[in-house]
Amino acid sequence: MVRVGLLGCGTVGSGVVKLLRQNGHIIAQKTGTEILIQRVLERDIKKCLALGLGEEVITQNIEDIINDESIDIVVELMGGIEPAFSFIIQAMNKGKHVVTANKDLIAIRGKEIFSAAQECGVDFYFEASVAGGIPVIYPLKQSLAGNQIQEVIGILNGTTNYILTKMSKEGKKFDEVLREAQELGYAEADPTADVCGLDAARKIAILSSIAFNSRVTLDDVYVEGITSISPRDIQYGQELGYVIKLLAIAKEEEGKIQVRVHPAFVPFNHPLAFVNDVFNAVFIIGDAVGEIMHYGKGAGQMPTASAVVGDIMEIGRNMLHHTSGRIGCTCFSEKE
Ligand code: NAP
Ligand code: HSE
Repeated sequence: MVRVGLLGCGTVGSGVVKLLRQNGHIIAQKTGTEILIQRVLERDIKKCLALGLGEEVITQNIEDIINDESIDIVVELMGGIEPAFSFIIQAMNKGKHVVTANKDLIAIRGKEIFSAAQECGVDFYFEASVAGGIPVIYPLKQSLAGNQIQEVIGILNGTTNYILTKMSKEGKKFDEVLREAQELGYAEADPTADVCGLDAARKIAILSSIAFNSRVTLDDVYVEGITSISPRDIQYGQELGYVIKLLAIAKEEEGKIQVRVHPAFVPFNHPLAFVNDVFNAVFIIGDAVGEIMHYGKGAGQMPTASAVVGDIMEIGRNMLHHTSGRIGCTCFSEKE
């Protein structure tokens, strides 16, 4: 049995509880062992009770999870920098593996977390932190590892892609569509990070660190959001054969990395032009594989829970085979 301590039972945390319950049988078969939510740290107890979690499972004291020796994996889904960072480090120091969807944290303090994971000999997995349900971190670290990656271009924010799609195709107003995205659970608690491009910038910082094997942090990324896009910009683009997308672009040229996020005109016939609503896509060029595109839902409860549960299962398998800490930090270069 693999026992999980869940930190945060909001949109994504609730999705993880639901998915482990809904597909528990097949998840246990594929992992080789059952996965149990042992404790849940959550401010709002009602959210947990609504999911049918017993009162004995819920706590508001992190020590109940950190000091519970039966807990193998801490799944951090609270968001933000603190106390998430401290909780993750404390959990690792107690020998617990960690899964998170927290791109804010990784894009700023990733290096410290990876170092702690290595020192403690534990796994740190974060597939859900970039592009929600789309597998992209694992493929970059594993399946594409033999390539020199030349370019990564992503539509990495579901909220802004949803807004731009609804403005383009249905002529809806920015504020109205943002409200819809919030109601659907796509937007961050403070949606400024979505619409100003910061959320996509965090994600491309994470992806480029992996793609180019050199640490890229949020401060290295040029960022521009979608708040100044008007219906007239969209209409002019359409007349000329383009659609406006918020692109996150990372390139390596002559040993230097360039990373930026901004709205861009994408020709109607480019694969990224077909990525609409909450869907995200990551277009990668590698020297051996050529061009490939990963596509799927980049935000929302169950797509994101899908990525989190996949990480939990992978750690469960590692534990069964005593191979924890196998894939750690891949930033072995220091590029400009
Ligand atoms: P959310 O709905 O706001 O859930 C977070 C939950 O954690 C809330 O219930 C919150 O309680 C609780 N919480 C926060 N700090 C806490 C603390 N110190 N002690 C106890 N409980 C605490 O957020 P979310 O959308 O699930 O996102 C969670 C993480 O996943 C974030 O890092 C986000 O960036 C990431 N993510 C989200 C999505 C998505 O589609 N939503 C997709 C990919 C990644 P209160 O509500 O009382 O504050
Ligand atoms: N707010 C984010 C988005 C959630 O809209 O893409 C997924 O990381």
